[in-house]
Amino acid sequence: METAFTRLAGIRYPIIQAPMAGVSTPAMAAAVSNAGGLGSLGVGAAGAAGARAMIRETRGATEGPFHINLFCHRPAVADPAREAAWLRRLEPLFAGYGAAPPVALQEIYTSFLVDDAMQAVLLEERPAVVSFHFGLPQPERVAALKAAGIVLMSSATSLAEGRAGQAAGMDAVIAQGWEAGGHRGVFDPALPDERLACLELTRILARELEVPVVAAGGIMTGGNIAAALAAGGAAAQLGTAFVGCPESAADEGYRAALLGAAAGQTTMTPAISGRPARCLANRFTGWAETVVAGDVPDYPIAYDAGKALNAAARARGEFGYGAQWAGQGAARARSLPAGDMLAVLETELRAALRGA
Ligand SMILES: Cc1cc2nc3c(=O)[nH]c(=O)nc-3n(C[C@H](O)[C@H](O)[C@H](O)COP(=O)(O)O)c2cc1C
Repeated sequence: METAFTRLAGIRYPIIQAPMAGVSTPAMAAAVSNAGGLGSLGVGAAGAAGARAMIRETRGATEGPFHINLFCHRPAVADPAREAAWLRRLEPLFAGYGAAPPVALQEIYTSFLVDDAMQAVLLEERPAVVSFHFGLPQPERVAALKAAGIVLMSSATSLAEGRAGQAAGMDAVIAQGWEAGGHRGVFDPALPDERLACLELTRILARELEVPVVAAGGIMTGGNIAAALAAGGAAAQLGTAFVGCPESAADEGYRAALLGAAAGQTTMTPAISGRPARCLANRFTGWAETVVAGDVPDYPIAYDAGKALNAAARARGEFGYGAQWAGQGAARARSLPAGDMLAVLETELRAALRGA
């Protein structure tokens, strides 16, 4: 079970519960870390004070290492005309639930690139592992975090992004495949997307990079983790597999969709937040099929509208407008307490490695 990544992070098993903004919780991360994996918190939308509170709560529930994740997207560029047109387009959807769209849209959270308070929290709290999604922080930030003894990782959806992460000083690179649930980590969503599957990308990055590679995307079982290790991965990061855990912050509609027939179809859409993300096909993604990226306000300005629409629909009992992020393995999701999930994954991984 020992790999370059387990040594780096100081964990027993090469299994990471993915950071999931809005879904992962201190209870989930602590349960996974207590069970020998790497528990994670997605604090990209939480702000510095929120991140500090989550880190402290997690620390109160585990002595093990855990992982904090931040968003390094280009700060949002407001475009009032595009935002107004988008709100007009959404108006009939709001009206269907007896509501009106917001008058204007806000950038509902800031990029880590411009969040000095978040950097200060990281340096004070010193979580064992920090990772970056959508891009890389400035060299001064990387240097300060490394000097504080924090292990750093970045997401990559291509060899170029993996090389950029390694060159920036990352200690490990996460190979995020096209199957993965949640936001696609592409650095620049305006560029063509190579859409490499998790195992193929893991093979490429493991061959070309010197740092350990973490496989992510569609990994749901210990057998899948064994395949990721066989492809050259030093660990696997699983998100969708943990969404149905009782410790998750997913709402009842999201859980029911994930554990029901809706899990059979996922789709990649920029319409919910302004960046491409994979979620369960639902009412909103069905409506958004004709939407092209250029129609949607910048990330995360569009997410302000997406969240408002979801709130309006939920108030009338309709959960089909939620950001129900899920990977292509969703139909194989299981609902187990996070610590039990880790134990099951470990048992399955051992069996797969023995060739059982
Ligand atoms: C609900 C959900 C939320 C996510 N939020 C984040 C996040 O905040 N930061 C991040 O780096 N990745 C996030 N991801 C992506 C995961 O890090 C990982 O790439 C993905 O879950 C792997 O694919 P899988 O869901 O098929 O296991 C999220 C994924 C899901 C399912």
